[in-house]
Amino acid sequence: MEFFVDTADINEIRELNELGVVDGVTTNPSLILKSGRAILDVTKEICDLIDGPVSAEVVATQADAMIAEGRKLAQVASNIAVKLPLTWDGLKACKTLTHEGKMVNVTLCFSANQALLAAKAGATFISPFVGRLDDINLDGMDLIADIRTIYDNYTFGTKILSASMRSVNHIFESALIGADVMTAPPDVIKKLTRHPLTDKGLDQFMADWKKTGQEIL
Ligand code: E4P
Repeated sequence: MEFFVDTADINEIRELNELGVVDGVTTNPSLILKSGRAILDVTKEICDLIDGPVSAEVVATQADAMIAEGRKLAQVASNIAVKLPLTWDGLKACKTLTHEGKMVNVTLCFSANQALLAAKAGATFISPFVGRLDDINLDGMDLIADIRTIYDNYTFGTKILSASMRSVNHIFESALIGADVMTAPPDVIKKLTRHPLTDKGLDQFMADWKKTGQEIL
């Protein structure tokens, strides 16, 4: 499973990238607001740092305007994935932009039927929002499993990008189901290293090492 980081904070991206775990980046208008940066500037900086797909979202709601914004965003760098909302106009824009050879990430997906349509419109990525379904007492992970089954039934090439990952279990379950990609905030990705037995074992090793009186360097 590929790991995308869900942030527009260049310092956070740089830190995770040093560990070699960043295969791509996703942003959205809320994350751009949080960064306090101009969308074209920060997106360019992220694209210079990361080789993989960097999603940048349009804000128009009519297909023609979405296409125009998508073309402008795609000019930032060759690894831009134009992010489009899963609306009728968004899918029309998806069809046009993918035919032009641009990567498209169809976002705000909350049903398997929406994901089916996005695949038929040629989306490069479909972003089902797991955490936001959990927020309304639905099981977001069921949606990932349903989309996996449907895409495999018909060998659609659209990649399932598990989004709105709020916990390490979301990531684990996405990997078990076979999502192609997941995108999570930096703090959730960092939590993947944590295990109390790792901490306990390390404390024991450090204490015993001290007793040996040895040094490696
Ligand atoms: C994905 O592309 C979205 O930017 C993101 O995963 C949304 O997550 P949230 O529901 O935690 O805001």
